[in-house]
Amino acid sequence: MSTLTPASTEQPLLRPLGLGDLRLPNRTVMAPATRARAAGVGLVPTELHAAYYAQRAGAGLIVTEGTWVSERAVGFAHVPGVYSEEQVAGWRRVTDVVHCLGGRIVLQLWHTGAASHPDHLGGRRPLGPSAVDPRETSFTAEGRKPTVTPRAMTPAEIEETVAEYGTASANARRAGFDGVEVHAVGSYLIPQFLNPRLNRRTDGYGGTPARRRRFLTEVVAAAAAPWPGRRVGVRLSPYWTAPCFAPDARTLAEFDGLVDELNGRPLAYLHLRGRDPSPASPGPDVAALERYRRLYHGPLIANNGFDRASGNALIAAGTADAVSFATHFIANPDLVSRFALGQELAAGDPATYYRGGAEGYVDYPVCAHWAR
Ligand SMILES: Cc1cc2nc3c(=O)[nH]c(=O)nc-3n(C[C@H](O)[C@H](O)[C@H](O)COP(=O)(O)O)c2cc1C
Repeated sequence: MSTLTPASTEQPLLRPLGLGDLRLPNRTVMAPATRARAAGVGLVPTELHAAYYAQRAGAGLIVTEGTWVSERAVGFAHVPGVYSEEQVAGWRRVTDVVHCLGGRIVLQLWHTGAASHPDHLGGRRPLGPSAVDPRETSFTAEGRKPTVTPRAMTPAEIEETVAEYGTASANARRAGFDGVEVHAVGSYLIPQFLNPRLNRRTDGYGGTPARRRRFLTEVVAAAAAPWPGRRVGVRLSPYWTAPCFAPDARTLAEFDGLVDELNGRPLAYLHLRGRDPSPASPGPDVAALERYRRLYHGPLIANNGFDRASGNALIAAGTADAVSFATHFIANPDLVSRFALGQELAAGDPATYYRGGAEGYVDYPVCAHWAR
């Protein structure tokens, strides 16, 4: 049986924290997790979303699932958007209930770019920085399908897309969110612009590291414009997925430059995802986090593979200000209480991650240890 000790409420993951203009009562952040539950017409968040986030309102900060900035950003089945009035109203219900329960919640802004599929786009080809197939798969209503060669965005389309991020961010504010997070990890539109293998442009958005970064920095400025103070975070990772995105010395050096440049932006935080744990390197990627801690001078949220002990150790060492958890929050809605009480964690069921419906979404129990 676990024991309660006075020290358990003094652990670093439970200390308050300021992230820009966000005030967190604890440093246990809920990481963004796509759950594919917006199955109805119009990709609108529902009462099920309100229940799911309400159950997790104890997080120091909730970062929602990636959410479409526009119709042409769509690239994964049953994911909600934030571009229509119906979606804004659905999200308002979510933010109201989270705030009523004492929580804080930011919306993650997502655009899949070339990693989408014509099935999501009424048969049209996805847009990307250049006409290069990222050779990924897209989760469609009929299962995973290979990506296709996208159409290279025109300068006007880039401008429109940056503006869409700005409108989506303003919509998030109208929906009652506390801020937004720019999704710049994985194989999606922003990493496509950052990566020289997919961005072959020779105009102002490609050809040099500074020009490849321009799309991201314009998106960050557009997302920040509707908010007073610092309420925009950026989620980044130098580790893209194979095959097109495997990091090398060149992309890692470019990434250093990008992180350094973000020092000059009015961000609430940088949310850094380390390398995936592997059999050769089973723990979280502390070395990468230490590297970016030296380069970035603002608040840092660390992610990927952490648990209570490793999360507390990272914050205690000063390597990050907060730690985010995705899989643990999926299966443990009361994760912060479990950390405070030193209780064991439940395991989630990956088969239900994207299945739809209430099962595996809002039916994970709170810790029943005391009832046993
Ligand atoms: C089901 C699932 C959905 C995810 N969806 C997103 C997403 O929408 N946006 C994002 O940035 N990361 C997403 N991720 C990645 C997680 O935020 C996180 O980086 C990853 O799970 C590693 O953290 P963990 O070890 O705490 O689970 C997702 C992960 C899972 C398991």
